[in-house]
Order: sequence, then C-alpha cells, then structure tokens
Amino acid sequence: MKTVGIGILGCGTVGSGVAQELQERSSLLAERAGMVLELRRVAVRDLSRSRDVSFEEGVLTDDPRSVVADPSVDIVIELIGGVDLARELVLMALTAGKSVVTANKALLAEHGKELFAVAAENNADLFFEASVAGAVPIIKALREGLAGNQIQRIVGILNGTCNYILTCMEDGGTEFDVALKDAMEMGYAEADPSLDIDGGDTAHKALILAALAYNRFFDQSDIVVDGIRGIALDDLQYAAELGYRIKLLGVILQDGDQIAVRIHPALVPHGRMLASVTGSYNAVMVDGHLSGTTVFHGRGAGREPTTSAVLADVVDVVRNLSSGATGRLPVVDGTADHLSLRPIEDMRVRYYLRMELLDEPGVFAKISECLGSHGISISSVLQKSSVVDGFVPAIIMTHVAPEGAFCAALEELRPMDAVGDEVVSIRVEEFEEAE
Ligand code: HSE
Repeated sequence: MKTVGIGILGCGTVGSGVAQELQERSSLLAERAGMVLELRRVAVRDLSRSRDVSFEEGVLTDDPRSVVADPSVDIVIELIGGVDLARELVLMALTAGKSVVTANKALLAEHGKELFAVAAENNADLFFEASVAGAVPIIKALREGLAGNQIQRIVGILNGTCNYILTCMEDGGTEFDVALKDAMEMGYAEADPSLDIDGGDTAHKALILAALAYNRFFDQSDIVVDGIRGIALDDLQYAAELGYRIKLLGVILQDGDQIAVRIHPALVPHGRMLASVTGSYNAVMVDGHLSGTTVFHGRGAGREPTTSAVLADVVDVVRNLSSGATGRLPVVDGTADHLSLRPIEDMRVRYYLRMELLDEPGVFAKISECLGSHGISISSVLQKSSVVDGFVPAIIMTHVAPEGAFCAALEELRPMDAVGDEVVSIRVEEFEEAE
C-alpha cells in the first residue's frame, strides 16, 4: 500500500486528538483511505509543553511554515486557529498544490472566497467538515447528499458551548459563569470563549453554511449576531413556564433573491426537534425543495467529535489523490451576486419581552398602548407577584411583528418611569418542520 505524508499545524485539543488517532488507528484509516497515513510533521506553539501524545524524533517543530514546506508532507491539517497566520499557511499549502483540511470557521467565514479560488487554481482540495457542528457531517450533506435541492431554510444549534451553558442553566439552575467554566474545562469552548457566548462562532458557521447553500459569502458585520450573555436564569424559567426552551440559533432563509442570515437566542417551543437538543450537542435542520426537512444531530464540540470530522476529510482527500479526483466537488466561489442579504428590519417574528414594571394601576395599559401604537399586538402576559422596590417582573409575549417596529417600541418603553432598568427581549422561533 502506498503512503501519504500528513502535517498538522497546531497540537491543542483537536490537533492532539487527530495525531493520536493517526498513530493508534493507522490500520483502520489505511483501510478506509486506501493508503497509509503517516504523520510526518506537527507544528506546536511551545515545544517544552507536556502533551498526552508522544512523537518520534524530528516530528515536532515550532515552525509551522517548515511543516507546510516539507516535501514529505502531502496533506496539511490546519488546526492552529486564528485567522492571519492560518490564512498565510493555508495559502502556502494550496499554492504548493497540497490539499488542506481545516476546522477553522473564522478563517473560512472571512477568507473563504479567496481560499477556495486558490485551491481550485492549484487543483488542491480544501475540506472543512470540522468547521461546522463537530462530528455532524453537515458539510458533506449539503455538498453531496442534498445537492439536488434548492435549499429553502437552514436552522441550526451550531455552538456546543452555548448549548451546554443553556442546558446547565435550564436543567440544573447552574449560574452562567459556572457553566461556562465547565464548558472550557471540557474542551468545548474556543481559546477566546467570547467568540462562543457572543455568537461570533455561530456566525462563522452560519456564514459557511450560507456560502455552501447559496454560493455567496456574506459579511459578518452585515448580519445580526446576538449571543447568550443577556440570558438570565429567570428567562429560562419563564420560557419553560410558557412552553419553550431557549436556544442560540443560526438562521438562514431564502426569500426570492434575498437571503436572511441571523444569529440570536430564540425561544423554541417544546416538542420541536431543536428544543430537545441538549448539552454540547448541535443540530442542523435543513429544508430542501425535494427533501423536505432533514435534521442532522450529534456532538458539536470537543476533541473526539471534531477529530472525527477532520479524519473524514483526510480520508476523502486521500481517496481523491489516489483516484486523481482532486477538485471533484463544486467550487464555492461566491459568485451568486444576484443574491443579497435581507435587511434585519424586515424580519417578522414573535417576541418574548421581560420587564420590571411598577406595581401600580394603569401601568399595563401604558405598555400595551405603546406596543399597539407601533402595530404590535400582545398575545399573552405573565406577571409574577414578587414585588421588589415596588417593581414586579412581567413577561409579554407578542404576536408576529416586524423587527423595526418592535425595536422602535422598545426605545419608547425603556425610558418610561413605570419600566425598570432591565428590559430583556428574545425572539421566538415557532418554525414548523416542513412536510
Ligand atoms: N467552540 C465551538 C463550540 C467548538 O462550542 O461549538 C466547535 O466548533
């Protein structure tokens, strides 16, 4: 059997998982790939750090460029994270005609158009299954399994850290900071966890899915990206009383020539598949015009699930190399210029609105008058009896309303004397699963 040389850039949580599997599962991988996968070089940041994988003499280096340039390395696995150095290294590999496997969603969301073009010019594969939803093969599903479909909608729980935090808060009453610390210890979170909790990581993944579905790269700065920092234990409890769970969603919708891409926490009704996704699991619901709804569910973060996705890509690259089929998959060149982003003001959803209201006669009338003056109709109200400094918590669920009108109403509500400092609004996604 022939041998192919592998170089890994980065040996953190995922890099060490990939290295370990390449060493310990070599016969299984050779059988699957049709070639022996030999780990020849690994770039690390700190050579002196102790790690749970051992390497033969000469494999480790702290010079990532030397790994890419090494003639014995045929395939480069980029797990270094970050954008600038990763971009330089991936470009270097692709330009040299070396196929690249990456888990780097920030890199692809920001520079995907350029990188895919360079891969195509150099007849190299750039595979990225590990960039979205961990072990869940959603990239392969969109590029291959659903290739005959016009994609109408993708809704995903795409961040394992946030889903883990929300589940711990909801099921165990755990405080946000404690749950985040746990998620970091378990290797779910990004090196900078604000990327997880502020929605940036979900945005990167949603932008990659949108690029695959519509061949158009949108800019993160043009879409709504809200994270989960503002979600309190109270919100999860009130949502549960109302029959919902709160999930951080990436939502991608096509409406004619407009694509809506938005990232935000949302109340999801109990009974919907996405509401039952817990812990570090991810799920992606895809509606195609032929397939109807398909749902992909699995472990979305952490060493093993991400290693699973990286190795799937490595096996694919090797199969392509041995059959001369590199570049077989369609290029994501971002040329669907007729598509534009749908303005956020045009979004129409229901809202959950939590406020502290003065416990006095006539206050609700003022609130409903304000909402009504913006065309927003109230669907239900939940008022708690716990009075603190004369204020009581109240939760208003609205009917479907335009985002622009809802935001204008909030601007008027916030400064009212009858309204306390904390005003929390969360969108509600009542989406039906298509037939
Ligand atoms: N930090 C990411 C998450 C890792 O929590 O989902 C997987 O991309």
